[in-house]
Amino acid sequence: MLIVKEFALVLFLSTKLCNSQEWKFPDDFKFGVATSAFQIEGGWDADGKGVSIWDVLGHNRSVLVKDGSNGDVACDSYNKWEEDVMMVKNLGVDCYRISLSWTRILPEGYGTKINPAGVDYYNKIINKLLENGIEPVITLYHWDLPQFFSPLGGWTNPVVVEHFAYYARTVFTLFGDRIKTWITINEPRLICQSYKGLIGDVTPNFPLGVAEYLCAHNVLKAHAEAYHIYDREFRFKQNGKISITLDITWSEPANASNPEDVRAAEQNVLFEFGIYANPIMGFDYPRVVIDRVANRSKLENLSGSRLPKFTFAEKLRIKGTYDFLGINHYITMYTRAAADPPVTRPNLDVDAGGERFRDPSWEGCGAAWIKVVPWGLRRLLNWIKNTYHNPDIIITESGYADDSEVFEDDGRINYYRVYLNATLQAILEDGVNVKGYMAWSLMDNYEWIYGYTLRFGLYHVNFTDPNRTRTPKKSVEYFKNVTKTRTIN
Ligand code: NOJ
Repeated sequence: MLIVKEFALVLFLSTKLCNSQEWKFPDDFKFGVATSAFQIEGGWDADGKGVSIWDVLGHNRSVLVKDGSNGDVACDSYNKWEEDVMMVKNLGVDCYRISLSWTRILPEGYGTKINPAGVDYYNKIINKLLENGIEPVITLYHWDLPQFFSPLGGWTNPVVVEHFAYYARTVFTLFGDRIKTWITINEPRLICQSYKGLIGDVTPNFPLGVAEYLCAHNVLKAHAEAYHIYDREFRFKQNGKISITLDITWSEPANASNPEDVRAAEQNVLFEFGIYANPIMGFDYPRVVIDRVANRSKLENLSGSRLPKFTFAEKLRIKGTYDFLGINHYITMYTRAAADPPVTRPNLDVDAGGERFRDPSWEGCGAAWIKVVPWGLRRLLNWIKNTYHNPDIIITESGYADDSEVFEDDGRINYYRVYLNATLQAILEDGVNVKGYMAWSLMDNYEWIYGYTLRFGLYHVNFTDPNRTRTPKKSVEYFKNVTKTRTIN
């Protein structure tokens, strides 16, 4: 079946190539690979680093992690960073997206004390990347919150906002002379889901259906503060761009000619993605989110809505805080309209309504939630274009997992082939302003509550070898060819 599909795609691509010389990525399109600090660095307490919530989870509650592992060593990039840079170079990509560990730079998370060894570590990586002609793309926050904030309620406590702003200013001061692309926060939806105990249950039990909205509220404010600090104090001398990365699941109406299904599908996208995108790229939360949470809160006999309200000044401050839009995409689902469930156990998914399902015939991979559905990417890119006035988009993550050690990773090659093709269709045929595509991930790494059981890497990492040996998988050659020819083959 896979072979037939691949053949069809190759035929399609060669027809494209014959019909036009232009079935190529535009000159300003950037290819990249991505990782994040906690998932690769290890060195969890090296040279003065402070403790993050994920260090604590890995040490005290590793029962929540599928293989009971932690990120103490991970890929050991704290020591092997130079080899990593060479692996990135070998791929011929334009950029490498990494994240900074907040507690490696400000060990206490809240204080003004800077850890020189942490600064040195990131300086070395940034400088080496630049020396090798690779643009470092930096995410400030990729889930490893300083442990200090955990007993205070983590992101549900607005106190995090000012500390994040302080951290952002510190980082722009330290590294901004060399950085042109910043991402404030990675996937707020996943961050906030943890406050209902879904992802790693990194926080205590919070009141259902309340904490995740409080978290979203504070994440949006923190992002906006970082944006304004950059905009006001650094942009004129550093000339970079800054935005946020949102993950987006594409919700396709189960029956596109049934208006109820169409409404239910869009409602899902607005609850998951619009809740962040609308305040930033429009003004305030989506109307449907405000109304539904208010109505359901009333049915639950609450005195007010579970969704917090922004003041007018806050809405203005968040509006427009993006120079491009970063998106991570892995999932497509069908949505059909469904009667609202009773008001027990409220949470965002229930508030969003509808019933979601996958087509069982979709090709899967090692991660149960990822199916190979490239048209979902194309549709969501078009939806963003039409809904938010065609912003510049960078796909900051997209990738495929194996659940065993696969070196001849044809599944991954096929995935990149069809997803890059969907990206190209969106650019060339639909006029979507996609400016970059970063593969998740450079190498196998610590996949949060899945530990080391899921492998997303272009490079294999041997986690039982103290040297954490890296070996290119077959997909490295494929990706190299894409970056070299700037086309899909
Ligand atoms: C998105 C997250 O940003 C990343 O940390 C994670 O590893 C990938 N999804 C794959 O699940």
